[in-house]
Amino acid sequence: MVFPNNRMRRLRTTDSMRRLVRETAVAVDNLVYPLFVRKGNRLKEPIESMVDCFHFSPDTIVKEAEEVAKLGIPAVLLFGLPGEAQAKSGLPDKKDKTGSEAWAEDGAVQDAIRQIKKAVPELVVITDVCLCAYTSTGHCGLIKDGKVDNDSTIELLAKVALSHAQAGADIVAPSDMMDGRVKAIREALEANSFKDIAIMSYAAKFASAFYGPFRDAAESAPDASTGLTDRKTYQMDPANARQALAEIALDIEEGADIVMVKPALPYLDIIYRARQRFDCPIAAYNVSGEYMMVCSAAQAGLVDKDAAMLEILTAIKRAGADIIITYFAKKMAKSFSKFV
Ligand code: PBG
Repeated sequence: MVFPNNRMRRLRTTDSMRRLVRETAVAVDNLVYPLFVRKGNRLKEPIESMVDCFHFSPDTIVKEAEEVAKLGIPAVLLFGLPGEAQAKSGLPDKKDKTGSEAWAEDGAVQDAIRQIKKAVPELVVITDVCLCAYTSTGHCGLIKDGKVDNDSTIELLAKVALSHAQAGADIVAPSDMMDGRVKAIREALEANSFKDIAIMSYAAKFASAFYGPFRDAAESAPDASTGLTDRKTYQMDPANARQALAEIALDIEEGADIVMVKPALPYLDIIYRARQRFDCPIAAYNVSGEYMMVCSAAQAGLVDKDAAMLEILTAIKRAGADIIITYFAKKMAKSFSKFV
């Protein structure tokens, strides 16, 4: 069919017409909201590197969780920081070589899980399982002989995941990129009768420049004294797509229920290819640097923030993601209420 029989613009004439033929729509059900928690009381400190994001303490995060649930967002993703708020308390933080605070029964994340599940039981609580915010080296694993050691690290990650399950987490999400960590976590959960705890693995996680604002927020940048200033020996090379599919296949085999691609925007092709090949739910992480690019551009008057947010989240969904983890989740959820 050619012009004038076919005029593509006929179906773009009005907003209602465009809605009628729209192929992709982000739903509030697709969203996960990341939250940062650290020890303390009545803490709600703005995170300098991330607009509209805060460090909460376990007591204040409950209020935030209630608001998130009220907006219809089904899940939060918790990140923990060890020790008290540094700048204010002046206390030494609790980082050590093994990141032991990560599996402390009274750790900030563990406390937050218990309190959120008590106050808002219907909200799905996902926890980030990693060591980088807890190790003095800032790496996601133990350093041995100048390298990040795989096999001793996955034992610790299993301990972390188990401590989150014991506190009441619904889903644990390992973000370290060690080999075999999903298997180690799945075995630890099964052995301790946590048969219904799901694993969402950061399966294809790339060594990205877009984690910068997060590393400030989580105080988790690799320490230069280790001689390893980046995470390239464990996170993926941005150039690799076939390898990403291999990572995802392995995690599914090891017991992951949901697999994640991270970051989202430079990796829409990976999301798309994963969607073609795998049938399990696919999550995409619209990371801190992607978020702050939009916020900064909006602040400079260069883009319309709401429009950019909608366009980006729609693109991630269109590529094939079922679940979108995004710092825009609340803003996006509020924009839906315009229609109801
Ligand atoms: C921890 C972790 C990181 C992010 C999520 N989990 C940082 C990193 O790998 O350095 C990044 C999230 C974001 O940038 O929003 N390993």
